[in-house]
Amino acid sequence: MSANVTPKLKNLLSIRDLSDSLLEMIVHRALFESPAPRAFDPKKKSVALIFLEPSTRTRISFERAAHRTGRLTTFMEAKGSSVEKGESLKDTLLNLRALGLEIFVIRSPHTGALEELRDAGPWSLVNAGDGTGEHPTQALLDLCTLAKSRGGLDKLRGLKLGIIGDLRRSRVARSWGLLAPKVGIELRFFSPEAWKPTDWSAEVNLDKSWTHSKQKSLGDLDVVMALRIQKERMNTLDPEEAEDFVHHFQVSAADLRPDQAFMHPGPVNWGVELAHDLNGDPRSLILGQVEMGLSLRSVVLEILSGEA
Ligand code: NCD
Repeated sequence: MSANVTPKLKNLLSIRDLSDSLLEMIVHRALFESPAPRAFDPKKKSVALIFLEPSTRTRISFERAAHRTGRLTTFMEAKGSSVEKGESLKDTLLNLRALGLEIFVIRSPHTGALEELRDAGPWSLVNAGDGTGEHPTQALLDLCTLAKSRGGLDKLRGLKLGIIGDLRRSRVARSWGLLAPKVGIELRFFSPEAWKPTDWSAEVNLDKSWTHSKQKSLGDLDVVMALRIQKERMNTLDPEEAEDFVHHFQVSAADLRPDQAFMHPGPVNWGVELAHDLNGDPRSLILGQVEMGLSLRSVVLEILSGEA
């Protein structure tokens, strides 16, 4: 697809919002045509960063991306805002819209919370993680990182990516389940039986791609992505269950071939999902993922605002 056509996108709540051509364009721009830093421009659409759950990378890279593309940002978290007084997310958005904010980057603990708001106002919404729902820009920046490391999106067809960890509660894994088939990446999922997702859409074909046996299968992969245990989404984490996870699913230096890369969306709990001996290992793509977040999110903001 030509890189000059201006694509249209109102909301990015799910990987399903992206046509194949738009996806291709986003990856191409993030890799080769990342917007150059610009001075603040009051005419550019301003961005509200509404983070109702903790975040470091996602929040700061969206903030940096907004500033890099010349936009004003306003940050809001639950603490100290009217969310604590019981205001609904819809009312918060309507009020911030009345104050002139136009693009809302939202992280919410509630799965699906943004879906009902997509056409509820004259705004653009970006899902920066909704409960166990989706985290589309994380999966996209992961994809761009892989494309960069392999010399282009077209080189990823047939690549085997293994995702290992707390799959059931991972919005990153769910977005990847939808993204991989669009670009011909073959996914393999690894988790304890109890953490196997139960509500993923049939198109991911978990029965074919999931296993609880790490040992046998990591060797077949090109890239391994580890995921954190999402303790905040569990009622309790039994210490034995945690120990068992470390024993059977932790990825260590010895698990990986010299040419096998590994990824992680962050934050990493070293000594849990990734062994301490991988900290600083040259096979890591983790900081490359973070760096790519700035470029990818700059492109997403430009496209959403119709300024691409
Ligand atoms: C992920 C998230 O919030 O879903 N992190 C991120 O955005 N970089 C994964 C996680 O929190 O484990």
